[in-house]
Parts: sequence; structure tokens; C-alpha cells
Amino acid sequence: MLRSHYCGELRKEHVDLKVALCGWIYRRREHGKITFFDLRDREGIVQIVCVPSVIKGDYKMVKELDKEDVVQVKGKVQLRPQGTVNEKLPTGEIEVLVEEINILNKCTNLAFDIESDTEVSEEHRLRHRYLDLRRPRLQKNFIFRHKVVKAMRDFLDENGFVEIETPILTKSTPEGARDFLVPSRLKPGTFYALPQSPQLFKQILMIAGFDRYFQIARCFRDEDLRADRQPEFTQLDLEMSFVEEEDIFNLTEELLVYIFDMCMGLKLDTPFPRLSYNQALEKYGSDKPDLRGEKKEKFCFVWVKDFPLFSFNPDSGRWEMEHHPFTAPHPDDVPLLGKDMEKIRARSYDLVLNGVELGSGSIRIHNRKVQEKLFSSIGIDDALAEERFGFLLQALEAGAPPHGGFAIGLDRLVAIMLGEESIRDVIAFPKTQKGICLLTSAPSEVDTAQLLELKIKPLKEVKDEVQK
Ligand code: AMO
Repeated sequence: MLRSHYCGELRKEHVDLKVALCGWIYRRREHGKITFFDLRDREGIVQIVCVPSVIKGDYKMVKELDKEDVVQVKGKVQLRPQGTVNEKLPTGEIEVLVEEINILNKCTNLAFDIESDTEVSEEHRLRHRYLDLRRPRLQKNFIFRHKVVKAMRDFLDENGFVEIETPILTKSTPEGARDFLVPSRLKPGTFYALPQSPQLFKQILMIAGFDRYFQIARCFRDEDLRADRQPEFTQLDLEMSFVEEEDIFNLTEELLVYIFDMCMGLKLDTPFPRLSYNQALEKYGSDKPDLRGEKKEKFCFVWVKDFPLFSFNPDSGRWEMEHHPFTAPHPDDVPLLGKDMEKIRARSYDLVLNGVELGSGSIRIHNRKVQEKLFSSIGIDDALAEERFGFLLQALEAGAPPHGGFAIGLDRLVAIMLGEESIRDVIAFPKTQKGICLLTSAPSEVDTAQLLELKIKPLKEVKDEVQK
């Protein structure tokens, strides 16, 4: 290793130790012939002292060091002189007296000063995300996100869940948004859809007998974006066999208690309040009530359950699913399918945190006949059901256990825990409101040769044909 310690880990107990540090030059100041600079790495910053009589080589090199140059320094840890201790800094009692400096790479193109508090537009920050991500606040956010994911994995592993990956190139999984499509080269004219969620695969895994599944799953939805919505985002997706609503509520509560304790040392109160959809609307006028005012707590969870299964869309003149079409109707309401649609209750539930929908789930249909009846009641006839979901219908006949599950929006959870207003600040490479990755300029045009290989006509040819 080029280094013996992280800059940010040095303390009083390291005094007199010879250390090798690597990092980026942060702030620098001259004090007569002596140069001070702060060296920064992932763990924090430490003060470096350069004295001409101590340092090896030409001192001119020290004078030429600039912000964000990458350097290795070798030297001895010493106590800061009395009166110069910086109590705000974890390394504030010590400094490193340097004997040798090696420049590992000069910074020759600094798009913005990462240290300055002056407003840098989000567009500029996203275009140069590598600099933005160097900022201590964002470094903290991503290390925190890592801890949340680790806590999830540890808890679920302890509780008998198996982590299984499901396909990204797949068939449409309806969650109410448009699909992102990927053309197939080997079967021209056909398309994969990127998953809006792993919904169908996790149900198939229950039918396959895995009993408890989870995945930190990337989901893709082509929908209008806002502060808490990205076209690709991450869910903690889980599914359990032989369960009812309360089993999922309890498991999710224990999971969140564990995460908040491990990552913030905060003890959440359980059980979280449970409201029916009707109660939420009557009492709070919203199915995403924010109970913070009422409960006087920084984090307020509430379960909202018993949603209606369908809602009527006056534009299309059709009944549409409130959740997805694999949600079980209340058993007493099955005979109402296709008749009294507005009266049918769903076995679905949302978890709301501080007025934001954090997660959602349901007990699923595990009987082919009920699934077919539901499809036909929303205008998916047998032929269409077979074409789109035939594999699920067949699997439901192969001994499907009763099952249900839940998915938590990971980006939303981390953003709320950190008090960030936008999930863009907890996603390493997010997209803009127009769905653009400013760092890479995706989406971008592709070579005509690539299009022809996929049997797709270039847009210009299509336009010419239309004009003719
Ligand atoms: P749902 O569609 O409600 O349920 O999604 C679950 C959670 O994912 C988060 N989420 C998003 N986060 C960021 N950007 C988006 N565009 C976005 N869309 C959704 C939310 C939401 O609560 N398959 C079902 C779950 C199940 O039934 O088990 C599903 O995906 O926090």
C-alpha cells in the first residue's frame, strides 16, 4: 500500500508515529516560510505542515501544490502547538510534519471548487459527478446507504431469507408505468422489457418452494420524474410463503427497527399504527398521512391497508388496478369481480413514512381461476392473458402456496433517514427530470450500423418515408 493510515483516522495516540498518507489537497495556507495544507481522503482531513528545513527535495514543489492534486506524504504525527487545536475537527489535536511529498497526479481541470459553499448548479454538479461525489456530504450519504443495505442483508439472512437475482432483460411486469424496451437482435421485431419490479419472478420463486426471498432489486419505469422518482431506482423486494398481512407487517417492522438501530442508534416504536384506506381518507384526507405533527416524532410510520382493488379511470372508461393485477381480492369479495367493482377490497397495504409512500405490497392471488377472473374484469381476455402471463397462469396450477410480499423504495428510505429532499442525493449517478445522465450524456444516438443489425430503421429514413 502507498499509505499506512487514512488521513481522517489519525488521533493523539498516533503522536510520534511515522505515517504515509495519500489523498487530495483541500485547503492550503502560507505562514511565513511554512506551508500548511489539509489533506483529504474518504475518512476526513488532516493538517499537513511543510517546513523547508525538514522536507526532502526541492521546496519549490510544495509551493506549486494546488487544490485537488493527488499526493502521497510521508512524515511524523505531532501534537499541534497550544492554542492551535481545532476542536471542530476529529483530527484537530494533531498534525503531520512532512519529510517527503510525492505528487501522484496533478489536477489540471477543476470544473468547480468542491470546498466552496458557493452555489454550484445541480446541472453542473451532475455533469462532473466525480467532483460532486468527493464532497464530504455525499461521501457520508453513500457510506450510510451502504450501511443500510448491509443491515437489510444481515437481518434478512438471520431471518431465513434467500437472496436471488431475477432477470433484467425480461417481459413486461405491469406496475402502472411505461416499459423501457430493448430490441432483440436474434429475434428481430421483438423486444425485452426492463422490469418495473421483480413481481412475477418473486411469485414464481414462492411456487418453486424458496419460502422466503429477497433482492436489492433495480427497477425501471418510464414515468414522469420528480424529487422522489427516478427512471431507474432500487427496491428492497421481498416475498414470503404461507403468510397473511400481519406476518408481513411484523417482519417489516422488525427489519426497520433493526436498520434504524444499526445505522442511527435510534429505537423505533412498534407496532406502527394501522389505518384502513377509508379511515386514512376520513381522518387525514389522504392515503399518505403525515403523522409527525400529531405524534411529535422526526420519523412517523403508518400502515395503510384495505385499499379498493380497482379505481375507475374516466378517461379510458375502464376499471384499473390500484396496485398491480396479482393482488388478491378480499375472499368475500371474489364473487363481485366483473360486477360491483367499486366494492371490492384488496389485500394490499402501503407503508407511509412522514407522508411519503415508502413501500407497498399485498397478499397475492395463488389460484388460476381467480387470477383469470381478475384479468377479465379489467379487460384482459383469455387470449391476451395467455400471451402476456401464460407462464404465471400455468405456474399457479402447479401447487402455488399462499404467498405475499412487500417492496421498500431504498432510495426513498435512505433519503428520508438522511433528511435529504431529493433521492438524487442518495443515488450515485442519477438522471435529470428529463431522464438524462449528464455525466455520460445518455440517452444518445447510436450508429446506423447498430440500428440495421437490430433491423431498426434510422429515424431519418422513417421521416423521409412519411414525407413521401
Ligand atoms: P410499488 O410500485 O408501489 O410496488 O413500488 C414499491 C416502492 O418503490 C418505490 N418506488 C420508486 N422509487 C423511486 N423512483 C420511482 N420511480 C419509484 N417507483 C416506486 C416507492 C414504492 O413504494 N411489486 C410491487 C411491490 C409488491 O407488491 O411487493 C411494487 O413494485 O417507495
